[in-house]
Amino acid sequence: DDGNSRVLSVLLAAAGLAVLAICWYLSVVLGRGGVAGAKRYPPAVGTVFHQVYHLRRLHDYYTDLFREHMTFRLLSPGRGQIYTSDPAVVEHILKTNFSNYGKGESNYENTSDLFGDGIFAVDGDKWKQQRKIASYDFSTRALRDFSGGVFNKNAAKLAHIVSDNAAAKQPMDFQALLMKATMDSIFTIAFGLDLNTLSGEAADEGSRFAAAFDDASEFILLRFVNAFWKVSRFLNVGAEAALRHRIKVVDEFAYKHIRARADEMSAGVEV
Ligand SMILES: *[C@@H]1O[C@H](CO)[C@@H](O)[C@H](O)[C@H]1NC(C)=O
Ligand SMILES: *[C@@H]1O[C@H](CO)[C@@H](O)[C@H](O)[C@H]1NC(C)=O
Repeated sequence: DDGNSRVLSVLLAAAGLAVLAICWYLSVVLGRGGVAGAKRYPPAVGTVFHQVYHLRRLHDYYTDLFREHMTFRLLSPGRGQIYTSDPAVVEHILKTNFSNYGKGESNYENTSDLFGDGIFAVDGDKWKQQRKIASYDFSTRALRDFSGGVFNKNAAKLAHIVSDNAAAKQPMDFQALLMKATMDSIFTIAFGLDLNTLSGEAADEGSRFAAAFDDASEFILLRFVNAFWKVSRFLNVGAEAALRHRIKVVDEFAYKHIRARADEMSAGVEV
């Protein structure tokens, strides 16, 4: 209808502008690379378009590129992205010069609908506060012993499922099984809650939450390559509508268990 075609022509015009912007950006970046600063930049081996093209196999795409270069750049409008598999660079970013490498405002914008003010979204003082809370969880010896037990238990469960399927000559989605084993383990360790996605039914609360969280992470990733995601969020269409629905499932589950835990604590029940 009329409204839709107007939206479409606005989108097309915006896409045209984006292409122009990219051409301009490439000429600036390549121009700069060609003159003085060439050595200061890791090699540019692709663009955001390659990422979109390889969206369904991004990790394989990056791995192929890493075989050629430990550190490389992918170009996108307005900025370059740097990817590294070099331990020295990782140490520089995560440790030696950590304070110079915030995640940034734009990252916060793209992720906070799902992660809120959590450790994956924020920088600076908010990050420090989250880090401090998390470090209580991850530093004690008791936790290390506890997590060992959890991983063992879920590995045994996984082995049972695999051998049952093998004995019955049933095909299985191995990646999904590994994902479930990981999700169950991490969740039990971090939140003291067994989602039991490994052997539970897909309709169970834990499995619904895990599936919603998995989908939501994927839709959040799409925002990084879809420059028009805010338009879709505003119109509540497509991936953004699906994302909103998944976040609702995630939030309801999380708040329900936070409330239950708070009640337990005020009733004096120990962990
Ligand atoms: C790391 O950060 C410090 C302080 O900001 C700075 O003096 C130093 O030059 C940085 N090192 C590198 C290799 O950029
Ligand atoms: C967030 O998403 C936008 C739109 O896709 C993108 O241009 C921007 O670079 C993203 N932010 C970061 C930090 O990657």
